[in-house]
Amino acid sequence: MKSDMEKTDNILIDRLNSNVDLINQMSHYIIASGGKRIRPLLLLLCARATNYGGTEHHAMAVVIELIHTATLLHDDVVDESTTRRNQDTANELWGNAASVLVGDFLYSRAFEILVEPNSMSIMRILSKATNQIAEGEVLQLLNIRNANVSQTKYFNVIEQKTARLFEAACKIGALLSDSSEKTINSLGDFGLHLGIAFQIIDDALDYESNSTTMGKEVGDDLSEGKITLPMIYALEKTSGSENKILRDAIKTADASNIDKIINILCSVNAFEFTRKIAENESQKALKSLKNIPDSEYRSALKLLCELSQNRTS
Ligand code: IPE
Ligand code: IPE
Ligand code: MG
Ligand code: MG
Repeated sequence: MKSDMEKTDNILIDRLNSNVDLINQMSHYIIASGGKRIRPLLLLLCARATNYGGTEHHAMAVVIELIHTATLLHDDVVDESTTRRNQDTANELWGNAASVLVGDFLYSRAFEILVEPNSMSIMRILSKATNQIAEGEVLQLLNIRNANVSQTKYFNVIEQKTARLFEAACKIGALLSDSSEKTINSLGDFGLHLGIAFQIIDDALDYESNSTTMGKEVGDDLSEGKITLPMIYALEKTSGSENKILRDAIKTADASNIDKIINILCSVNAFEFTRKIAENESQKALKSLKNIPDSEYRSALKLLCELSQNRTS
């Protein structure tokens, strides 16, 4: 996919252009800092796996990455994060106001590019997905510092804030090649389940990884009072003083004794449980590929599932 990805990256950088210096500076800063580009890759692979022979897939992959980048700019403001992709976040360098506004610029630039193929179906999918991301982030905000959030509520949030964009990327790839409704939905399901697994692993890494490997601070979720699957499970499995330590940490958004908290999470096998649930979602994603004809692109989609499960960053 090297050539497709390079073309996508070139368009991505090209389309950041603005007459406003600060926008150029900030948008290049975040785009050039890398990122895995998994969402555009998914769109390109789904287009290729369904025999797309045109040239519009690169621009549509750019749209997906621009929307993702806009959500990161906004997310880091909301989460008060200071590090992303191993560098200072935009909000850390330029402040919250500039980050929110440049996030809006990237969102709207994405929609300028999105309308170019003049496909009502593609526009419908992406306008719906961005709306769902916003809902997911607001739902999550409502759960902040609440130690009683259920697994069901957690899954609802991650489906909206993360998995819907994965789903949209895959569906658009399939739509470009005029695939049947069934194929579009199968690839959409693939993206949805992969997206859920991807966020579950991200939430495990938030506790388990280290900041150099991950490029983000460890314990960010806890320090903002955000309750994720390892913690929800540990709250279910502990009682007495251990349960109180976890509960208090979430209620006060306090990650100061993160080592002790990680020990408690480990003692009830919270990370094994979390990874098992992610694995189940990966399996569902793989099953959604069963009606897609075999090709090197379909194999690559499968490989992405495995890599996402075992990733460290
Ligand atoms: C970060 O997404 C936000 C989540 C949904 C967990 P990525 O892990 O894809 O971020 P980059 O683009 O590779 O930095
Ligand atoms: C991802 O959630 C945010 C969106 C997809 C909008 P997180 O807050 O967990 O992502 P990171 O950990 O900051 O990358
Ligand atoms: Mg965040
Ligand atoms: Mg996270």
